[in-house]
Amino acid sequence: MSATAAGFPGSACTWRFWQTTIGKKAVMAVSGTILAAFILGHLAGNLQIFLGPDAFNGYAATLRHLPELLWPVRIVLLVSVIAHIWSSIQLAVTKSEARPTGYVKKRPAGSDYASRTMYWSGPIIAAFVIYHLMQFTFGVGGTPYHPLDAYGNVIQGFRVPAVALFYILSMALLCTHLRHGLWSMFQTLGFYHPRHTPKIKRLASVLALLIFFGFISIPIAVVLRVIPQVL
Ligand code: HEM
Repeated sequence: MSATAAGFPGSACTWRFWQTTIGKKAVMAVSGTILAAFILGHLAGNLQIFLGPDAFNGYAATLRHLPELLWPVRIVLLVSVIAHIWSSIQLAVTKSEARPTGYVKKRPAGSDYASRTMYWSGPIIAAFVIYHLMQFTFGVGGTPYHPLDAYGNVIQGFRVPAVALFYILSMALLCTHLRHGLWSMFQTLGFYHPRHTPKIKRLASVLALLIFFGFISIPIAVVLRVIPQVL
């Protein structure tokens, strides 16, 4: 038994679990679930933009005036993002080590194709989040920004067609990623049932579509000017 295992049996156990493929998949599933929960909550908050500037700015200000809630949430999100990215890299390495020579001819089955899209959609979503934070949190995204006017920031941000389009495309990728991620989570948990599995797949698709339409409704409403443009 190693010195670590003798001194800290619990942490040695956790470390051994992390080193297994199922351990890394579990970390991906837990961190992904936390991120998906944030996305749902964020969507609910963002849709308040349709209630006008006072409601939306009030919601943004409430969050900022609750540092005891905001900072723990930010820390949990950051840890989840790091864990999610780190475990995905580890799983990709494990996968490529298991097939060092590769196949002569790749014939992607449906699930293989979907899981490969996870590896390129992930970095694009990360790039989107970085730009998003630069734009609406730090005010350095190249569109007008006022720290106390989240409503104005969003309206002026999406008045730039390239920005609105970038958001719509990113949301499409995010929701494809979410749909497959949700489904993989059930597989990681070992859930398979001939009757319920297709229903779960449909539920994952419906949820992903709702999130997609929910988010893109905002840039579309701004571009089509169906949202009050009070600035
Ligand atoms: C149309 C889509 C979206 C709009 C209009 C929007 C709007 C905003 C706004 C206005 C803020 C700043 C709030 C403040 O004043 O502090 C913000 C922060 C943030 N958004 Fe979004 N958002 C969208 C989509 C997303 C998506 C898809 C994600 C994640 C994948 C995301 C992740 C975040 C994060 C991490 C923050 C920082 C929260 C913090 O301050 O800790 N947003 N968003």
